[in-house]
Amino acid sequence: VIGYEAWERRARLWVPTLQRNVTTRLDVLRYLSMLPDAVRGLGHRYGDSLFRADWGWVKMSLRPYLSAVADLDLTPPRSILDLGCGDGLVTCFYAVLFPTAEVVAVDQCGVCLITTQTLASRLGLRNLRILQVDASQEGMFSGWQFDLVVARSLVLHRLLHGEPRGSEGDEYGVPLLTDILRTSRHVLRPGDGMLISTERWDRATDLWYWTSTIASAGFDIDWVTCRSIAPTTRALSRWRSFMVVARASETPTTVQPSDVLSFLANVEALSQSQRPILTGYTAESLFRTLGRRELVFVFEATRAGFMLRRELHHVGTLLVSYDYTNWHERELSFWPRWAAEALEAQLRGEADALHGHGWDVLRFLPDTRPDDQVATAVR
Ligand SMILES: C[S@@+](CC[C@H](N)C(=O)[O-])C[C@H]1O[C@@H](n2cnc3c(N)ncnc32)[C@H](O)[C@@H]1O
Repeated sequence: VIGYEAWERRARLWVPTLQRNVTTRLDVLRYLSMLPDAVRGLGHRYGDSLFRADWGWVKMSLRPYLSAVADLDLTPPRSILDLGCGDGLVTCFYAVLFPTAEVVAVDQCGVCLITTQTLASRLGLRNLRILQVDASQEGMFSGWQFDLVVARSLVLHRLLHGEPRGSEGDEYGVPLLTDILRTSRHVLRPGDGMLISTERWDRATDLWYWTSTIASAGFDIDWVTCRSIAPTTRALSRWRSFMVVARASETPTTVQPSDVLSFLANVEALSQSQRPILTGYTAESLFRTLGRRELVFVFEATRAGFMLRRELHHVGTLLVSYDYTNWHERELSFWPRWAAEALEAQLRGEADALHGHGWDVLRFLPDTRPDDQVATAVR
């Protein structure tokens, strides 16, 4: 088989199902199964409907968040600070997931903290401390150090969607992002201290603003670990909830628009059953403009004057495959970065199969010379 047929018949790359951490997944289920008894009688809390412990909310919002935390597969932290813990449903999960950690839950809303306290005692938690404080006050935690700071639904979405500070229904206040970040940075050790900030919105520019503000407060965004938390119903898909994972750094860092774009492309590649694919001139021009590529695997197969070449590269936090022939078929796709090993195995398999069918096959190895992205060919 040569020519167009060979192109058409080339192996379609596919991403295997992401291996979830079964133990931590079970922790989510165990925790959710404890909630009906623990929240009984707590009902709707403090004034507005900031959140409700009803099962729709649990399914749409809480559970996807808890699953995302579980999938991070974190090294158990010794100490955790939850800024703006609200009714404590999230904080208590951290306390259950990391029983050896000391968890400190803070909120400025006293009524919320009563709920958190009730929940914690019904769940039998002994590793949780609850404090009523304004987390945006400078020097509030002086002398304290934590391994992990978490803040969920705390800051942005209300401000960015037209609600000024102090508006009606905002009696508990919406802190300024910069204040919360200053507090977080203050209590985290540079190097290993981690921030998990989770907010939701519908604009990519919000994500850029948010991550840039985090970076400039003295954090390194860990783009490979950041994730999008998919809502469980399609009706809600206008909203995107993002979990930004950042490490405290010695100095402020910056975020480029391309960091955000490649993160979003990765997220798309992960959530779409149909890969986003570019073909023809568009594929070629985009491939040529992609910055410094890091070779994962490339092979070139020739037979009877027909050449099929398939490339797989890391480009920043993106994984990109680019296939082409000397007949000018070209196709570029984005893949989740974690799938590199599986995709490489598929391409290796195809190269071997073509070799077995009498094709002349070259594989390319990364070259150590600086500007050669794909250099040494081996048979
Ligand atoms: C939308 S709720 C989120 C609660 C919880 N993190 C969750 O995900 O379920 C936001 C919470 O942040 C609290 N909050 C707002 N500003 C705060 C501040 N400056 N200090 C402490 N808590 C604050 C509010 O009182 C409210 O309970």
